[in-house]
Amino acid sequence: MTFSPMPPVPDRVPGRSLSLGSLALPSRFCLAPLAGYTNLPFRLAVREMGGLGLATTDLVNARALLLGSAKTMDLVQSTEADRPWCVQIYGANPEELAEAARRVAALDASSIDINMGCPVNKVTRGGGGSALLCQVTKAVDLVRAVVDAVSVPVTVKMRLGWDSTTHTAPELAREFEQVGVKGITIHGRTREQGFSGSVDISGIRRVVEATRAIPVLGNGDVKTLADAAHMLRETGCAGLAIGRGAFLNPWFFRQLDAWDKTGDPGPPPSLMERLAFMKRHFQLLTSVRDERFACLTFRKVAGWYCKALKPGHDLQQELVMLNSISHFESLAERVQERISQRSGEAWEPVDHAVAVPDGPIAHW
Ligand SMILES: Cc1cc2nc3c(=O)[nH]c(=O)nc-3n(C[C@H](O)[C@H](O)[C@H](O)COP(=O)(O)O)c2cc1C
Repeated sequence: MTFSPMPPVPDRVPGRSLSLGSLALPSRFCLAPLAGYTNLPFRLAVREMGGLGLATTDLVNARALLLGSAKTMDLVQSTEADRPWCVQIYGANPEELAEAARRVAALDASSIDINMGCPVNKVTRGGGGSALLCQVTKAVDLVRAVVDAVSVPVTVKMRLGWDSTTHTAPELAREFEQVGVKGITIHGRTREQGFSGSVDISGIRRVVEATRAIPVLGNGDVKTLADAAHMLRETGCAGLAIGRGAFLNPWFFRQLDAWDKTGDPGPPPSLMERLAFMKRHFQLLTSVRDERFACLTFRKVAGWYCKALKPGHDLQQELVMLNSISHFESLAERVQERISQRSGEAWEPVDHAVAVPDGPIAHW
């Protein structure tokens, strides 16, 4: 059996502890929203691994929230263990957004984030998401309405701009700070880029430089300690928001936080620990609703567990067709038998585990 050498641990990048206004976070590493994935069970499972600063819900349509749509109310489901938690809202109407923010604050959200990064047409054609990057005055009015409506910290997550010729994010960040926003997350891509190309580190740095005192979280393609060190060092950002990297490695926050505090990320998870995480995730899926919901939701993520565990094609085929709790239990047992034969194997980081919208018109 061949073992890949572990990559060298990068030097720490000193920084202060992270607060969004009055909300002090336990670490500077936060879970970025990934619609369809960052639901309550996944947030809880990742929190249990340790090191997480803040977890954000999937983006929530402000109007649908006001109408009390069942699907939307599921998105804002939370528990005491899911703290601190941020609810991300989107829309283009200031009154609607302000009222949605009040409702979310009444649900005990620790903070409220406004989405100005979503590239998909379904969101931008109504003037929300990344469409707001093109209208500075409108975006600032909308943010001001939300800040004035609630006492919890309000943050904004955005992209650098609509395209490479219009990087409005630094100007927006400056204006948002003036109207009382307590933090910015900046994904270092434009709307035009979607999820392609690479993250523009200097663009993120310009947003950091545009703000006076509020923290800026760098976001995009941080999947390893080396990526994290690079983003922190080169942009001067106060913390990181991590999306897909958390799915590749749910221990990432614990490792980052330990590295940040001591210089040592600790040992990588074993295959058995990865399996235990998968079982815990499924158990949490069953606990928030019914068996059917748990199985259908698990099917969506079965592929990335298989990429990490490599249990064999036959078991993967069964996991993606999961149909009951007892089916899961028997499959998990068979996965365990297979991986116990490889229990000394080093953990290999796997990439491309989370599907991304295939351009702006994709549905997700
Ligand atoms: C499947 C998927 C769903 C996403 N959903 C949201 C969302 O609901 N709200 C949001 O602000 N960003 C969303 N994003 C963008 C991520 O939060 C993040 O900005 C982006 O994936 C880059 O970070 P990463 O490389 O760490 O994943 C989504 C991305 C993906 C791939």
